[in-house]
Amino acid sequence: MRKLKVLDLFAGGGGFSTGFLQSKEDDLRFEIHRALEINDSACDTLRNHIGKERVIQGDITDKTVKSEVINSCKDVDVIIGGPPCQTFSLAGPARSGSKEMREKLKDDPRNTLYKHFFELVSSIKPSYVVFENVEGMLSKKAEDRNQLNAKQSQVIELVCDELECIGYTTRIEASLTERFQVVNAADFGVSQHRRRIIIIANRLGVDNPRLVSNVRKHRDVKKAIGKLPIRLPKITTNRLEILKNIDVILRNYEYCLEVFSRNLRELAERYFEGNENLLILSETVEADVQRIKQIKSDKINHLKEFLERYNSLVLDLGINDKDSSDKLTSHQSRDHNFRDIIIFILTKEGSNSSKFMNPLSDDYDKFLDKLYPYARNKHKDTYVKHSWNKPSNTILAHMEKDGLKFIHPDQPRTFTPYEAQLLQSFPKDYAFYGGRNAQYRQIGNAVPPLLGKVIGEAILKLEMM
Ligand SMILES: C[S@@+](CC[C@H](N)C(=O)[O-])C[C@H]1O[C@@H](n2cnc3c(N)ncnc32)[C@H](O)[C@@H]1O
Repeated sequence: MRKLKVLDLFAGGGGFSTGFLQSKEDDLRFEIHRALEINDSACDTLRNHIGKERVIQGDITDKTVKSEVINSCKDVDVIIGGPPCQTFSLAGPARSGSKEMREKLKDDPRNTLYKHFFELVSSIKPSYVVFENVEGMLSKKAEDRNQLNAKQSQVIELVCDELECIGYTTRIEASLTERFQVVNAADFGVSQHRRRIIIIANRLGVDNPRLVSNVRKHRDVKKAIGKLPIRLPKITTNRLEILKNIDVILRNYEYCLEVFSRNLRELAERYFEGNENLLILSETVEADVQRIKQIKSDKINHLKEFLERYNSLVLDLGINDKDSSDKLTSHQSRDHNFRDIIIFILTKEGSNSSKFMNPLSDDYDKFLDKLYPYARNKHKDTYVKHSWNKPSNTILAHMEKDGLKFIHPDQPRTFTPYEAQLLQSFPKDYAFYGGRNAQYRQIGNAVPPLLGKVIGEAILKLEMM
């Protein structure tokens, strides 16, 4: 079997590499010869998956690191990579942050990291190059653009020009002008909408393959994560008295307690199979709610004690247990506060906070409108509850912050790292190193392996021509 050697730059937790390793055409495959990455946890993940001798940990801007890459990769056939995209992202602070933040990001050294990618391409000159980035890069303009027209001044066009200058063909088959493609991972079997720019370039002087959707129907969230065991979060009780809008909860005390216990009962019915502990939890909480909703004084302390009893039960019954026998170590919910739990439960599946606050929407909910704790003059879509029967929204590295845009379709919590991993099409047994935040970051940053696989196969076909 012949193997094309791959150098993965900005390799992260290895999404792109994993996809390339999954591609095959007849007896042609890829091997990840080297992967360059700066981050400790991501490097640990890579070492585990591709072997420690293949991982170069370092900064791509560092001359010694660059020399090490060049010396060890003289005969690689393919360079793949996606320079960090924070400053181009449609979702990050480069778009939505304060004016000050946006100005600062303009000078962010991450803006020019892609230049180091091309320096390495230019020294190593592999037969193929694949460059991946966020769609937001399309609106990124070159800094020094006095001499250029509108199209030429787009960074993406300059990237293509740069590749052409060093001897690569970027043109896409059956087109005279197209040099990059914008693809949605959902069109390639990933249970997630994720639009990305892909440039495939080659030194053979031939047109590059067009990535054409290979699915008739999008794969939905249920297909990816619907069979996982239920996880219920621990509910934070510290500083409950100063939680924003706790007064709204206290004024609607009975209602909130009933919403909470009714939801547990529904979950116990839905997820009952193989999980009798869930039934015990639901019945115990229901009895507790009947008792404490009668008590009219000192509601805040009663609520605190109630939540602490619930937390102990969840722990004792193993309903958020990362060490449980199923060994799903990263399938564990983060903690949430009680206000958010009520918002998660009452938001309709597939809906979001901008709808529940809009009196003209079918999903309008007067109580949730009052409970919404954030400023209403900017973004109203802070909370997004996913649908079972659609692909998820783009999984973001930002999930490490609070995950409120990634609420599970029927459990009152945000997606666990393991769910994010499956929505990104990583294999079920793929392990990410580092703490929960580091895991979310590696997963959210990754090229979905299934998309990587499709790109890899397109290159193998080109090689076989
Ligand atoms: C968008 S992620 C790449 C994800 C990867 N392609 C995948 O599929 O999993 C970008 C990666 O570049 C790494 N990085 C950022 N600055 C770097 C630098 N100066 N040198 C090397 N790696 C860097 C980040 O740690 C991050 O893991």
